[in-house]
Amino acid sequence: MKKIILTGDRPTGHLHVGHYVGSLANRVTLQNSGEFDEIYFMIADAQALTDNAENPEKVRQNVLQVALDYLAVGIDPAKATIFIQSLVPALYELTAYYMDLVTVSRVQRNPTVKAEIQQKNFESSVPLGFFCYPVSQAADITAFHATSVPVGEDQEPMLEQCREIVHKFNSVYGETLTEPNIYLPPNKACYRLPGLDGKAKMSKSLGNCIYLSDDAETVRKKIMSMYTDPTHIQVSDPGHIEGNTVFTYLDAFSKPEHFAEFLPEYANLDELKDHYRRGGLGDVKIKKFLNRVMETFLGPIRTRRAEWEARKEDVYDILQEGTKRAAAKADATLQEVRRAMRINYFEDKNLLK
Ligand code: TRP
Repeated sequence: MKKIILTGDRPTGHLHVGHYVGSLANRVTLQNSGEFDEIYFMIADAQALTDNAENPEKVRQNVLQVALDYLAVGIDPAKATIFIQSLVPALYELTAYYMDLVTVSRVQRNPTVKAEIQQKNFESSVPLGFFCYPVSQAADITAFHATSVPVGEDQEPMLEQCREIVHKFNSVYGETLTEPNIYLPPNKACYRLPGLDGKAKMSKSLGNCIYLSDDAETVRKKIMSMYTDPTHIQVSDPGHIEGNTVFTYLDAFSKPEHFAEFLPEYANLDELKDHYRRGGLGDVKIKKFLNRVMETFLGPIRTRRAEWEARKEDVYDILQEGTKRAAAKADATLQEVRRAMRINYFEDKNLLK
């Protein structure tokens, strides 16, 4: 069986370091592993519109920004197909057929949908398109016969729902669709990166993000303003690690070699944490260290982004070519689906028999 990756992002803003550790870094590793036959990265503009119907310009503006973020982190258009969701019409048709296989109460029980409805204060005014997005996401995944879906942990319920749709479809219409697996980051600390304020996860609407496109001075200021431990007032005070955003970020981003390079008085993160707990280690010192650690990957991302920004015409071509390839692949799957459902009426004259 072919090994195929598909994943995507809603273009509602620039991508941030939470996206990077939660999924983007993983994608680049997978892309460069040479283990995959096909790789698709989707800019999910149609999904973004499900809760931004009145803000189409915001979605439109961010399509190119997400493409630039992809290229900046090292997604290679020679190895991966980058495409725009709304220009792959087969996805809508697949969604329509899958909707017949899913109940309203099943979607209502999807924990991610539940949490998002609360977070967005939709209450009883949930757009129908938004409510159905787990089904449309199953179409995104199965249209490419994806076997691996690298996403953040919050997308696990989507994958579960997708697998259910695959089982149901295959049991009703015969083996057609491929069951996908989630691909989580290797390090648990990367699962749910909190925002700068230590609250919830990093999210554009909360204004607590470090963006991959932020300049070095902006990143430094954001790190310096980070929430740490409110009981750690004097340097000499003992400090807490749990709930201390700087340490949560160090858990996600620091590697042993960063200590040798930037903070050689400590052998590793455990020693740094021990000193902080004992007291005598100031927040400024750990923040400066975090800043240097983060610049080890943000620096090269910034440089590559600037290179691609100077070649926007090429980015446009990459998106257009990628979308064409993706549409052809999804169309082929749609034909398989129509055949399985026996609604391929004009493929042969069997209807007349
Ligand atoms: N829901 C994903 C997000 O919010 C984006 C997405 C849309 C996606 N379709 C997908 C991710 C298919 C993986 C597979 O980030």
